[in-house]
Amino acid sequence: MSGFVEKPEPIQVPGLVHLHTGKVRELYQNEAGDLVMVASDRMSAFDWVLPTEIPDKGSILTQLSLWWFDQLRDLIPNHVLSTELPEGAPADWAGRTLVCKSLQMVPVEAVARGYLTGSGLLEYNESRTVCGLALPEGLADGSELPAPIFTPATKAAVGEHDENVSYEEVARQVGADTAARLRQATLAVYSRGRDIARDRGIILADTKFEFGFDGDTLVIGDEVLTPDSSRFWPVDQWEPGRAQPSYDKQFVRDWLTSAESGWDRKSEQPPPPLPQEVVDRTRAKYVEAYERLTGTSWS
Ligand SMILES: Nc1ncnc2c1ncn2[C@@H]1O[C@H](COP(=O)(O)OP(=O)(O)OP(=O)(O)O)[C@@H](O)[C@H]1O
Ligand SMILES: [Mg+2]
Repeated sequence: MSGFVEKPEPIQVPGLVHLHTGKVRELYQNEAGDLVMVASDRMSAFDWVLPTEIPDKGSILTQLSLWWFDQLRDLIPNHVLSTELPEGAPADWAGRTLVCKSLQMVPVEAVARGYLTGSGLLEYNESRTVCGLALPEGLADGSELPAPIFTPATKAAVGEHDENVSYEEVARQVGADTAARLRQATLAVYSRGRDIARDRGIILADTKFEFGFDGDTLVIGDEVLTPDSSRFWPVDQWEPGRAQPSYDKQFVRDWLTSAESGWDRKSEQPPPPLPQEVVDRTRAKYVEAYERLTGTSWS
């Protein structure tokens, strides 16, 4: 079992047509045909969207994405058209709403990995490969890879796992030319992000991008290089050979799997609400990631 513990009811705004409720974002279309993307404070863990929100998370993710889009401007065009609040939108949408070019999305999760962990580590332990790419012997959980790799996945519905696929499979699905452009853009953007983050004390272990087409132009959409779309590890605690402390969901995952939560991950039961202390510490981690990366204070 997985999905939303409580399915959110989207807010209706005159002049905006509600298109989709994602795990974190609400999508609307405005009268000009542009996409209005509103990031909520929702949090997901273990394939569930939790019943407890993390205050300010939506605006932190939105502001961090905007900052990154700026850092990446010379590498690839992005989908942001305006940060202005649509007329009639609730005041609390400010800071977490982007008017974006509606792209023809490429149905591939464009993942880049510079370090070995997660599903990559599982595959490596079985076959010394990740997404079919051969890797050297002797790598451990958290090891840096000889070079970043493109490890695409198919996009899964809410509550389902994304599935890693080979590059050849992506080429079959979207065409060889698009696959090659995806890989090139993914690795270029990851490498830029990794270097910037490392200078600021954060290891960008891996990350997921979503690209789309505006005519023939490949554009980067969705959110970029946030704690929700990436694994961030503090450089000063990095130690290959064990699970690395993660920047965002650590407290949530630890608490949900602790005896205190009373929740069994393997059961059919939805996860319980988070205690205030876990909410506060998680919010502080999102703020810290924003502040470390951008070098500006959140408040
Ligand atoms: N410029 C764009 N044009 C069209 N769709 C976009 C654009 N940018 C992002 N999207 C889509 O908006 C959605 C973002 O919402 P969110 O991140 O909450 O969804 P998700 O849970 O990751 O995925 P899903 O939508 O499948 O539930 C994604 O489906 C993403 O593909
Ligand atoms: Mg998403």
